[in-house]
Amino acid sequence: MEKAGPRVRPSEALPLHIHTSKVQPKRRWKLVSALISLAVLFYWRDCLSRCLLSFSKVSSRRRETHSYTRNKAYIIEATNGAVASENEICSNIGVGTLKGGGNAVDAVISTTLCIGVVNMFSSGIGGGGFMTVRIPPSSPNTSSEVFNIDFREVAPALANTTMYKNDPAASLFGGLAVGVPGELRGLEEAHRRWGTLPWKQLVQPSVELARGWTMQTELSRRIHEEFFASLMLGNPDWRAIFAPNGRLLQAGETIRRTNLSRTLAMIAEEGPGALYKGPIANSLVKKVHSTGGILSHQDLEHYRVKVMPALQGTYRGRTVYTTHAPTSGPVLLHMLNLMEHYDALIEEGRTLENMHRYIEAMKFGFAARTKVCDPTFANDSTSIEEIPTKAYSDLVFPNITDDRTHAPEYYHPIFDMVDDHGTSHSSVVDKNGMAVALTSTVNMVFGSQVMDPETGIILNDQMDDFSTPGKPNIFGLYPSPFNYPEPGKRPLSSTTPTIIEHEDGSFYLAIGGSGGSRIFPAVFQVILNMDWGMDASAAIEYGRIHDQLYPLMADVDSVYSDEIIAGLREKGHNVTVSDINRIASVVQVVSKKGDNIYAASDSRKNGVAAGY
Ligand code: DON
Repeated sequence: MEKAGPRVRPSEALPLHIHTSKVQPKRRWKLVSALISLAVLFYWRDCLSRCLLSFSKVSSRRRETHSYTRNKAYIIEATNGAVASENEICSNIGVGTLKGGGNAVDAVISTTLCIGVVNMFSSGIGGGGFMTVRIPPSSPNTSSEVFNIDFREVAPALANTTMYKNDPAASLFGGLAVGVPGELRGLEEAHRRWGTLPWKQLVQPSVELARGWTMQTELSRRIHEEFFASLMLGNPDWRAIFAPNGRLLQAGETIRRTNLSRTLAMIAEEGPGALYKGPIANSLVKKVHSTGGILSHQDLEHYRVKVMPALQGTYRGRTVYTTHAPTSGPVLLHMLNLMEHYDALIEEGRTLENMHRYIEAMKFGFAARTKVCDPTFANDSTSIEEIPTKAYSDLVFPNITDDRTHAPEYYHPIFDMVDDHGTSHSSVVDKNGMAVALTSTVNMVFGSQVMDPETGIILNDQMDDFSTPGKPNIFGLYPSPFNYPEPGKRPLSSTTPTIIEHEDGSFYLAIGGSGGSRIFPAVFQVILNMDWGMDASAAIEYGRIHDQLYPLMADVDSVYSDEIIAGLREKGHNVTVSDINRIASVVQVVSKKGDNIYAASDSRKNGVAAGY
C-alpha cells in the first residue's frame, strides 16, 4: 500500500546545492549573477510597491467625521479621483475603474451598475435617470463643456391621461406602473461619447458581484420592513432571491442574484441593446403584461435618450450646471438665485434669519416646480424657461418677508407634488477634472414591485411621477395638468444632478441626491452649508429643513437648537421636529479645493465614498 503523505516529484525534492555543485565554474558565475540580478529586481520591486503604497496613503485618506445619525460618516481626501455613491462596494468599484485607467464616465458607469445589483431598492437597469457630465478644457485657452444625458423613463405608447383614474394605486404597484426603462441607454450614450475603457470591463464587476455578495444593513433593513417582508416572502419571484430558504436573509449572509448576473453577462458581451431587443426584452414584456402592464416591444425598441448642453446658471460668481426640465434643475437655480440677493449671507452664517430665508426660497421653489413638466409636451414652455433666470428671481425676491412666512397660496403654486423613496445618486471626479453627477431611480423602494424572475430585472414605477386628472394626491392637492401621462412623455422629476465650477472655471463640486420631493431642497442646503464653511461631509450630515408648501409643515431635523425652532415658530412656520435617522433625503458630493479632492456620501443611507 502506498504511504500517506505529500507526493513529491524527485527533482522537486532535491536541495538546490546538490544541483549547483555539479555546475561548471563559468556557468556557476552566470547563475550567481542571475541570482544577484533577481535579488536586486525583487528589492526594487518591493521598494517600488512600498513607495507606491505610501504614496497611495498620502493620495487618499479616509477620516471619520461627526455624524448626527446612528451611522458613521466619513470624508475622503484624495489627490487623483473620487467616487461618492450610496454604497461603499460601489464607490470602491468606481475607484477601481479610475485606477485601471478609466475616466469619470467609465467610473460612474461601473458604479451605477453596481448600485443596481446591491442597492436594487434604489435604482437599476429597470429604471432611468439623468446625468450631468463635465468635459474638462482640452487646453488652457478653452473652457469646459458640460452636457446632460436625459435617460428618464417614458410613458409607453398605450399610456393615456386617465389611465390611473379608477385605480390610483396602479401607478405605484404592478405592470401598469412601469415606464420604459432608460438607464442602460443612458450609460451606453455616455460611454459611446466619452468612455475610454471597454464596455465589458465596466459591466464585469457587477456580473461577478451579482453571483453573490454579503448582504449589508441598508438592504436588510428594507426587506425586513413589514411592507416589503410580505412581498419578499409571499411572491416567488422575490422569495427566490431574498428568502431562498423560506426566511428572510439578514445582513452578513450571502445573497445571490444569479438571474441578474446572467443578464448582465449578456449585456457585457452584447452591449446595452441586449435589454431593448431579443430574449431579455421578450422576457420583460411578458412579465409586465402578466402583471397588468402595457409595455411593448416597440416601446423598448423606440426608447431614445436626450443629450443636450447642461442647463447653466451662476451663483455668487460660480457657474452652476444642472439638468433641464422635467427635472427640478431649473428650480434649484431659482432658489440659488433668490439666495444670491442676500449680500451678507455667507458672513452672517447659519442664523435664524437665514434659515427662514432659505425656507422661503424653498417655498417659492416648490411653487415654481408646479409648472415643470416634459418641455416637449408643454404647450408653452416659456413658463419653464423663465424659472432659472435672474430676471425671474428679481421679480420674486421682493415677496420674501424677513418677519414671517405665508400660506401656500402666497407663493402661487399651480398644483401638487408627490413624496417618494427609492433613488440613488453618485458623484465622480477624475484626475483630469472630468466629472459626472448621475441620479438614477426605480422611483419607490423596489420600484413597481415587479421583478422578472428570468432576467432578475426590477421594474420601475416611474409612471407615478405623472399626475392623474381629477384625483387629488395623498395630500388632497389637485393634480398638475402639465404633467399628465401621454405616450412617449417623461414624468416630472425632483432630481438635480449638478456640477459647479469655481470662478476661474475649474471644477468645484458634483452633487445630487435621492429622496423624492426632498432632493432639490437637500442639494440646495448642502450647497449653502459648504458656502458657510462646512466640509463636504459636514455639509451633508447637517440637519435639513423641508417645506414643500403642502402639507402645511416645516419638517426640521432633530439637530436644530431650541432657539432656532422657537424663532421659526415665531415667524409663523408650522415646525415639526423629525428624527434625523429617518431616511428622508440622501446626498452625495465630490468637491475640489486647490489640488485636494474631497468626497462624502450621506450616512443616512450608510453611504461611504472612496478615492485614490
Ligand atoms: O424622479 C423623481 O423625482 C422620483 N422618481 C425620485 C424618487 C426618489 O427619489 C425616491 N427616493 N428616495
